[in-house]
Amino acid sequence: MKKRVLSLLLAGVMLVGVLAGCGGDKGSADGAKTYNVGVSIYQFDDNFMTLYRNEIEAYFKTLETDDVKYKVTIVDGKNDMATQTNQIDTFITQKMDVIICNLVQTSSAETIIDKVVAANIPLVLINREPLGETDESYAGILENEKVCYVGADARQSGTYQGEIVRDLPNKGDMNGDGVVKYVMIEGDPENPDAQYRTEFSIKALTDAGIKVECLVDQVGNWATDKGQQIAASALTQYGTDIDVIFCNNDGMAIGAAAAIEAAGRKVGQDILLLGVDALDDCVDMIKAGTMTGTVLNDHIGQSHTAVDVAIKALKGESIDNYYWVDYVKVDASYVNK
Ligand code: GAL
Repeated sequence: MKKRVLSLLLAGVMLVGVLAGCGGDKGSADGAKTYNVGVSIYQFDDNFMTLYRNEIEAYFKTLETDDVKYKVTIVDGKNDMATQTNQIDTFITQKMDVIICNLVQTSSAETIIDKVVAANIPLVLINREPLGETDESYAGILENEKVCYVGADARQSGTYQGEIVRDLPNKGDMNGDGVVKYVMIEGDPENPDAQYRTEFSIKALTDAGIKVECLVDQVGNWATDKGQQIAASALTQYGTDIDVIFCNNDGMAIGAAAAIEAAGRKVGQDILLLGVDALDDCVDMIKAGTMTGTVLNDHIGQSHTAVDVAIKALKGESIDNYYWVDYVKVDASYVNK
């Protein structure tokens, strides 16, 4: 009899726990509340997103208290949308308290948003903007009280790359033939960061009245080895005609730097090299003069904003649909300050 009363009591306590537990597991031994956070990154094998995801994890840790813990599960989308869709489905089944997603394909944003919204789980999209704020044809894609995007405006990073070249005494015309002839090494073409950086770096030059000519424009998918291959073959084909190599990110610029060195060319003397992200290696290269400039893609600011917003959302506090973090221009004068 006693046993039965006890188990009824226990069942009652558990039911109250379930009913009260709109988000977060109660009842860990020390009484702390644990929130479950699901994070899907488009691809672990990406320099910048590795820094970003490590910082997400580290920052969540710093926000833990005796009463509140975060169980963060980070999965690798392996650059495959089907894999990522499965991961999001699993997060939904696991009843995550919040999902942070770095989309593999921005064109799948709506499908992912619809699923997560239907499950009533807050969704923080990061790094790959589901166009909406910066492209009116997608306006409204994030208009839901539990969905937001945290990122940086890629147009700004492109503009900064172009301005670094524009502000040099020779305005980027290294061989003095009157035209800035360039090689463009692009990231994943489906990614707005790649599209905008490609467009706005050159726009900053043409807006300043500088004549430009594109010699090569190829996709390097953010990868160092691809950056090296594209730069090497461009250097073989066009030699000293090339004034500038623009790379949509630093990973590819590191590859291009190796090709420039192998071709016996000298950054700052007969060629210029630009990237985006401000990886430590590239900041060192700018100090050493083997790279012209980059743009800080603030993974600390972005990851902290994403986590802060995720925590607000899981607590049921209201959030905005967009959070923007600024880029910072990084050239020789900046690094030698
Ligand atoms: C960009 C970054 C690239 C790459 C890409 C992934 O913002 O500059 O290096 O990480 O995101 O979407």
